[in-house]
Amino acid sequence: MSSQQQPPTAEGADANAILEPAATRVRDPRSGRSAWMARLIEGGRVEGDTLRFTLKTTRAHSAEDREKLKGGLLRQIEALGWKGQVVIQMSVVDDAPPAATPRPLPGVAPEHRAHDHSHDHGSAHDHGHDHGHAAPAAKKKDPVAGMSGPGMGPHGGPIVKQPLNGVKHIIAVASGKGGVGKSTVATNLAVALARRGLQIGLMDADIYGPSLPLMMGVSGKPFANDDKKIVPLQAHGVKCMSIGFLVDEREPVIWRGPMVMGVVRQFLQEVDWNPLDVLIIDLPPGTGDAQLTMIQAVDLAGALIVTTPQQVAVIDAMRGVEMFRKLNVPVLGVVENMSFLALPDGSVLRPFGRGGGQQTADTFEVPLLAMMPLDEDVREGGDLGKPVALRDDAHGRPWADVGALVAEALGL
Ligand SMILES: Nc1ncnc2c1ncn2[C@@H]1O[C@H](COP(=O)(O)OP(=O)(O)O)[C@@H](O)[C@H]1O
Ligand SMILES: [Mg+2]
Repeated sequence: MSSQQQPPTAEGADANAILEPAATRVRDPRSGRSAWMARLIEGGRVEGDTLRFTLKTTRAHSAEDREKLKGGLLRQIEALGWKGQVVIQMSVVDDAPPAATPRPLPGVAPEHRAHDHSHDHGSAHDHGHDHGHAAPAAKKKDPVAGMSGPGMGPHGGPIVKQPLNGVKHIIAVASGKGGVGKSTVATNLAVALARRGLQIGLMDADIYGPSLPLMMGVSGKPFANDDKKIVPLQAHGVKCMSIGFLVDEREPVIWRGPMVMGVVRQFLQEVDWNPLDVLIIDLPPGTGDAQLTMIQAVDLAGALIVTTPQQVAVIDAMRGVEMFRKLNVPVLGVVENMSFLALPDGSVLRPFGRGGGQQTADTFEVPLLAMMPLDEDVREGGDLGKPVALRDDAHGRPWADVGALVAEALGL
């Protein structure tokens, strides 16, 4: 056995450093949320080379649900590099915790809701290979091997990057493909969270198509303060920073590639973000070097994957989820955008097909957070620099709901 396969010296290691990312990636079939968000994991601790925790399910869970949860958790713990034993204590509680009732997804068309509930046992498409519990997790290849990602710490847990001073959580909004509404989600989420009274920053790192200035209705060159930090521009209660503030729109895109790393470091370290509850990063679309470089520069609390319902977007969205997985960034959930168009007569059109968000969520056992309508007011709000999330009407409400879900996922 090579030294890498020895059980780690895990005394004192924080069990939640493994359990949180692992359980974030396992879908609770009852609530449709991650096992972590559904608070199914309790009492995590590391004793010697053994990781112990309690899996707290309810009577509403079937035996099959429990086996799936157990199997999924074991797989994820192993994939995160834990090489010791895992002992799961099962506990079944009487009262369904609040999370056990599936909530309607923000934005879902009424007709679609019924459809979704029929898929409530989302993991019906099983991925098999369940371990028995307490199986020694070992021998799988380091998932990050071959990537220049953050890799594993010496104890087998994910390496924790330096946090950004005064910023509680950094989340990335990503998509495999351009034009799916990533910037629309990022800006509206920022506004929705700010309207909850949180301190929010929005960093537009999309070097190829910065859209924050247009969508937030803010432009100009930011100034430096006395500490020589760049002061972000304010719009709708959000601190904004965009490559668009600094780069001439007419400058050829080819010049921008080499700027990526410098820009990200500058936007993180040299911008006066402090204090923030959440910094939202609008990543460039795709899963190439630019995205990898950015993700590696940041200590991300999680990623939101935006996709449209159609197959061609789904394939790319899945690539996006894979990328975050390999880099040990928890995927907070999938936002399906442009899911349906509600007509005045109450009927619903689905110009982009259906099922893409659910399929991505099921495949990776992450929550489908929302299905957002295709809505002319959303497009118009973006074009006018007045995100629809500023509004309290039927157009703004689904975005407020997404904000509430994300705030909850981050424990805010
Ligand atoms: N739910 C939606 N309803 C209507 N238009 C939308 C919606 N989401 C995005 N759009 C529009 O689609 C276009 C592309 O969206 P954008 O957020 O810029 O995508 P990305 O950042 O993924 O390239 C924009 O004009 C935007 O206003
Ligand atoms: Mg964009």
